[in-house]
Amino acid sequence: MVQEELGNQRERMLDAWDAAAPGWGRQADRMQLFALPVSEWMVRRAALEPGQQVVELAAGPGDTGFMAARLVAPGGGLISSDAAAGMLAVARERAAEHGITNVEFKQLQLEWIDLPAASADAVLCRWGLMLVLDPAAALRECRRILKPGGRLALAVWDLPQSNPWATIISGALVELGHAEPPPQGGPGMFALSHPGLLEELLATAGFSDIDTEPITIVRRYPNVSEWIADTYDHASQFAAVWKDLGGEQRDRLREHLLRAAVEYVDDAGAIELPGSTLAAVALA
Ligand SMILES: C[S@@+](CC[C@H](N)C(=O)[O-])C[C@H]1O[C@@H](n2cnc3c(N)ncnc32)[C@H](O)[C@@H]1O
Repeated sequence: MVQEELGNQRERMLDAWDAAAPGWGRQADRMQLFALPVSEWMVRRAALEPGQQVVELAAGPGDTGFMAARLVAPGGGLISSDAAAGMLAVARERAAEHGITNVEFKQLQLEWIDLPAASADAVLCRWGLMLVLDPAAALRECRRILKPGGRLALAVWDLPQSNPWATIISGALVELGHAEPPPQGGPGMFALSHPGLLEELLATAGFSDIDTEPITIVRRYPNVSEWIADTYDHASQFAAVWKDLGGEQRDRLREHLLRAAVEYVDDAGAIELPGSTLAAVALA
């Protein structure tokens, strides 16, 4: 792909994240409920101490970094960053709500991180790396900004078949003819899910002491409408389709989802959808 085309693709992807930012803000508490075990793993394995400098990349609403900010106080601080200005606005608001003061906010790109070399004790990145066009470049950049021996703790999504919370709804759009099947290859939710790929990328970027672990997550919804509302807020592709559906088409989609998720629905209509994420820690 020529440079100009890559630039256009990056711009389109970031526009989509900017557009999704208010929805991510609305759902941030619910998101952190299911995502907490992942943040806890990352922050624990980053082995933080007071006085240290932490950078969170692709931070979105910023919660993992805010947990780290508490641990590096007093004396230490957090740079909470994202490439999308809208996401940074959400994170700023959330930091104020959570009373986090040892934090500064920067608009940073994962693939070319505008921070000095060897300036961070730890880098955190939950569910960001698989979204970039060049994850190898992003990992080289992570290693460059870490002090020698500093820790990178990250999470990417595991295989599609381990994540029915995401695949049932995206599959339903395709099965009902509302969306094209996702393109093979390229950035996306499952781009780094292939067994061994994350470890290989980390090693190639020069990281050592690489340790990865799958973490189970569960997304709970009281009913299918809440599942749809959450997806609407998080996934711009779904939101674009849902907006244009008529009443009957929406009913058909709801029924389709309930059928496809039948093994995860209880008698009262509450839904518990499982998922799996790959967490990794490595030394620069
Ligand atoms: C799936 S969300 C994850 C947000 C947050 N880390 C979390 O775990 O809730 C992905 C985030 O990556 C950001 N992002 C996407 N591409 C990026 C890039 N090239 N550089 C930095 N951030 C990026 C998006 O704006 C969005 O906030």
